[in-house]
Amino acid sequence: MTTHPLLDGPNFAERDPHCFWKELEGFPSQCWAAQDLTLSRSQTPATPGEVRQIVILGMGGSAAGGDLLRAYMAGRLPIPIQISRGDGLPAGLGPETLLVAVSYSGNTEETLTALADALPKSPMAFVVTTGGTLAALVERQGLPGILVPSGLMPRSALGFLFFSLLKILDAKGIMPFPKEDVAEALPLVEQLAAGFGPARPIRDNEAKRLAVALEPRIPVVYGGPTTAMPAYRWKTQIEENAKRLALSGVLPELNHNEVEGWADSEARRFHIVFLRDRGEGDRLARRMAVTRDLLLRRVGDVSEVWSRGEGLLARLLSLIVLGDWVSYYLASLRGVDPWTIPAIDELKQRLRIAP
Ligand code: F6R
Repeated sequence: MTTHPLLDGPNFAERDPHCFWKELEGFPSQCWAAQDLTLSRSQTPATPGEVRQIVILGMGGSAAGGDLLRAYMAGRLPIPIQISRGDGLPAGLGPETLLVAVSYSGNTEETLTALADALPKSPMAFVVTTGGTLAALVERQGLPGILVPSGLMPRSALGFLFFSLLKILDAKGIMPFPKEDVAEALPLVEQLAAGFGPARPIRDNEAKRLAVALEPRIPVVYGGPTTAMPAYRWKTQIEENAKRLALSGVLPELNHNEVEGWADSEARRFHIVFLRDRGEGDRLARRMAVTRDLLLRRVGDVSEVWSRGEGLLARLLSLIVLGDWVSYYLASLRGVDPWTIPAIDELKQRLRIAP
């Protein structure tokens, strides 16, 4: 197929009344702008042993920055990073915990509750937000934080949220800001955003081709230990943008349970996308190949996509950017507005007015 009647058609933009494509196209410039974000208060770097764990509080799109940080830091930091979703707190919070509450709106109920409960135990706390209650904590109560630009959907603000977390780690002396990785990753992200954007016709556009292949089926995104984070991001972006149920899973664990589920008579309704990475190693590559071979006979369709770039940050971002655009074109093919999130809004509204 050289052009697609809907995705490459002249009335393409009519299917996107809020011009959501501009948020995706603006992701590279968002990442560049994020390099200039600063903390509201200067920090004294922690002494060795002063920080024993990092806990990031956040929900949905605001938790994704933490997920990306943990995936990127895998094996690099001598201390664990936990992403805590919900109003409960992980065990082991204490004065040696570096706590970061992330909420793009600054008003997410679960994040605010968790932060209020955590602060007495873990005063080494930071926030990342655009406004709301969290910004008031920075502006009126002096909690250190990074105020990021508003105006995006939280799930589109991954660049601001992720690089803010790296800035906090740098300020606390936990990990110097990875300038070299960023210098490799951002030009690649720029190149990919252009290559997956609406102006590039389907014959040269992997994101459009994948969306067309996925559209008739329920997407399932499988990754390995490194690509598990992008796989989950694909799932949530397909759900929020395309309003389509999607699943994600991680090898090798799914070889020990989920793989049996594909004996289901409904298996033909699904399309599995394997997220591959040059760093996955021979053993995982073999697992992926055998799993793919086994499932090919059962599911509706199977695809494979590869990360691009050299460094881990570039590779993770390349898969994220591709998934974001795939979810966007899926929305277009399904005739839904990728920007609105009516069910999430209704939930927040109804919970706010509940007694
Ligand atoms: C909306 C989105 C949601 C929100 C979540 C939490 O674009 O991605 O998943 O991120 O409802 O809200 P915030 O991010 O404002 O804390």
